[in-house]
Amino acid sequence: MLQVAINGYGTIGKRVADAVRAQPDMEVCGVAKTRPNFEAERAIAEGYPLYAAIEERADRFAEAGLEIAGPVETLVEAADVVVDATPSGVGAENASMYEALGTPAIYQGGEDADVADVSFNARANFEEAVGADSVRVVSCNTTGLSRLIAPLSESYGVEKVRATLVRRGGDPGQSSRGPINDILPDPVALPSHHGPDVNTIFPELAIDTLGVKVPATLMHLHSVNVTLEGRVEATEVRELLAAEDRLFLIPERAAVDGAGKLKEFALDAGRPRGDLWENCVWAESISTTGRDLYLFQAIHQESDVVPENVDAIRAIAGTEDADESVETTDRCLGVGF
Ligand SMILES: NC(=O)c1ccc[n+]([C@@H]2O[C@H](COP(=O)([O-])OP(=O)(O)OC[C@H]3O[C@@H](n4cnc5c(N)ncnc54)[C@H](OP(=O)(O)O)[C@@H]3O)[C@@H](O)[C@H]2O)c1
Repeated sequence: MLQVAINGYGTIGKRVADAVRAQPDMEVCGVAKTRPNFEAERAIAEGYPLYAAIEERADRFAEAGLEIAGPVETLVEAADVVVDATPSGVGAENASMYEALGTPAIYQGGEDADVADVSFNARANFEEAVGADSVRVVSCNTTGLSRLIAPLSESYGVEKVRATLVRRGGDPGQSSRGPINDILPDPVALPSHHGPDVNTIFPELAIDTLGVKVPATLMHLHSVNVTLEGRVEATEVRELLAAEDRLFLIPERAAVDGAGKLKEFALDAGRPRGDLWENCVWAESISTTGRDLYLFQAIHQESDVVPENVDAIRAIAGTEDADESVETTDRCLGVGF
């Protein structure tokens, strides 16, 4: 049984903890937080041993009546793998601690690519992470684009990707985030940094991205144009994408007109936290004009990287079979509608 430590128990960390717990070959040996709050109470209620991420602040947990199992270093030392799900930039600060304790580490997409040996997407480059000392699971947007590009590239060849990322202003719990009532080109300078991040997975890919930030919290929406190397019919692309494990083709009959209904759909389906681990591609948006493919996909920023973290744990621990890992992750988590 692989022992997995989770450092940073917020939006991503708590979801990864639950996903790890659902797997037959790994368990959560503990989670670390800096302060007591509702998530710390929830971690204890879930039965996850709680560790103090900052030792000088450990007393605060006792004052709040929460039992601490020890400092984060004890947790990391006991683990086979640590998943760092701390805020952007904190992971890089933690890297020296993980290295000193000899525990392989998985970082998130908020870190720069050079934090880890390899940037990771299970569909595209699982093999590159096998046995690595450190892996970075790419961001929610890069994960969403990579899952789409991999099958298109393998089946048809891709000449160029152009994607406009309509990004949520913040997660539902991020009350400090804006914009409140605005639409921001973000960044204004084009193309955006998202394309180069996709190049950490597909180094040779020609891709330009544009970002727009909107006052929404539910999901991101990608407007994608891919110039393929040959002419392909839309029906053929639909069949190709429908066969992908982590792509959900929203059928026209579902009458899902946007992110709000998608989240409602996930909640009705009994998904924990209303999570959508899959790229949600509107089937009827898949269109072709000559060699150009167009489509819309919605990406649930809080959860699409969760199954990727589980696969990254197996890869870093030396599992070589990507298909088997993805199949196990998806079956135990309930990926796929
Ligand atoms: N949310 C998304 O949309 C999303 C999607 C994909 C990737 N990511 C990436 O995932 C990473 C985590 O993002 P998130 O959205 O989960 O952030 P988050 O919701 O803010 O959670 C991070 C948690 O880490 C804890 N923390 C802060 N400083 C820490 C430290 N020094 N040591 C240990 N824990 C610490 C914070 O809780 P306490 O201070 O209360 O302990 C916080 O709850 C980032 O790299 C982000 O870019 C986020």
